[in-house]
Amino acid sequence: MPARTSSSTVADVNAAGGPGPLGAGSLTSAAWRHAHLLQLGGLSDAELRTVLFRARQYAGLLREADRVVRPMIGVEQTGSVGPLEAVSSELRGRVIANLFFEDSTRTRVSFTVAARRLGAEVIDLTSVGSSVSKGETVGDTAANVSAMGVDGLVIRHRSSGACHLVVRTLAGDSEAMPERRRDPGRRICSVINAGDGRHEHPTQGLLDIFTLAESFERLGTFDLSGLTVGIVGDVGSSRVARSDIAGMTALGARVICIGPPALAPRSLTALGCEVSHDLDAVLPELDALNVLRIQFERHEVKPGEAKENQPRTASSNIIASVREYAELYAVNAPRVQRMRPHAIVMHPGPINRGVELTAEVADSRRSMVLRQVTHGVAVRMAVMSLCLNAPVS
Ligand code: NCD
Repeated sequence: MPARTSSSTVADVNAAGGPGPLGAGSLTSAAWRHAHLLQLGGLSDAELRTVLFRARQYAGLLREADRVVRPMIGVEQTGSVGPLEAVSSELRGRVIANLFFEDSTRTRVSFTVAARRLGAEVIDLTSVGSSVSKGETVGDTAANVSAMGVDGLVIRHRSSGACHLVVRTLAGDSEAMPERRRDPGRRICSVINAGDGRHEHPTQGLLDIFTLAESFERLGTFDLSGLTVGIVGDVGSSRVARSDIAGMTALGARVICIGPPALAPRSLTALGCEVSHDLDAVLPELDALNVLRIQFERHEVKPGEAKENQPRTASSNIIASVREYAELYAVNAPRVQRMRPHAIVMHPGPINRGVELTAEVADSRRSMVLRQVTHGVAVRMAVMSLCLNAPVS
């Protein structure tokens, strides 16, 4: 499949959406050379900004379309209308396959909406109903789908590193497939990580950054310096936390991971963040608090114990009881009162209301939960557009 350059795309976006706060000339994909997005760790601040500037542009178009198109509902409508028309052919003729080997609501729908907004076709695959249930490896599944000419794979998998493995397999570097040696002219299909085990969830990290920047009027530069972000809960098991830490610290924020030692171990400081076991002590310092679910399914379960249907119980010895956890770490209205006056609360979802976050806070004006979801579409449009149009190396 021929490589397409992104220059006309950028021009289209600028023409349609108008310049962002930095002006049309500031929007450039020059710093983006990656066909894949596997993690935020290791990306430079310039690369992060390239994606975020592009997402800002798409966010403007989506907002405008919402304003223009909604009143037209009920009136005859075909295809993309109004502001989105300019970007609706960016990925026309391209096929994106969602390979979700773990449950998802927001992320999968968001990638699908984003791909369709750019004119791509989307196909969905899950482990149930595919050959994964017959024992096929994720690398083999991905290689087969890619061999059909698919342009992008969006992958969610329970194993950390699954997306890296897929990229290696597709590149023909796998020792198990010596016949698939690297062909320099061959454009391999883009791999986008939609969450791999406890490793990373880069698009969630980007949409968290976008939401933070919007809330503190940093959309012009995405410079997060001077902001202190808390991440409270099951940080050790969280791929969202790892992406947040990598991206937010690269853009200048101070990040404090908070939780009991079993969920927020000191070793996290190696990622460039601070660690506290005392939520109440750090609340007054926080501009934002990202609240994480206790990810029981990622904790080790003793033999014989069922893994499913245990969302509200301590399924392992990692915490003594959910009630004790909630006493010290649940984000409730009195705790939010003690944060800075302008502070925001974020959550990647799904929320276990009454466990890590009370309904009162989840539905309050401090809660950015639905803003995060909204920004997810623009961020994923940016990631797919940049990766699928990256120059062949
Ligand atoms: C997160 C995930 O899957 O890692 N959710 C999401 O993508 N919206 C967090 C979680 O499952 O708790």
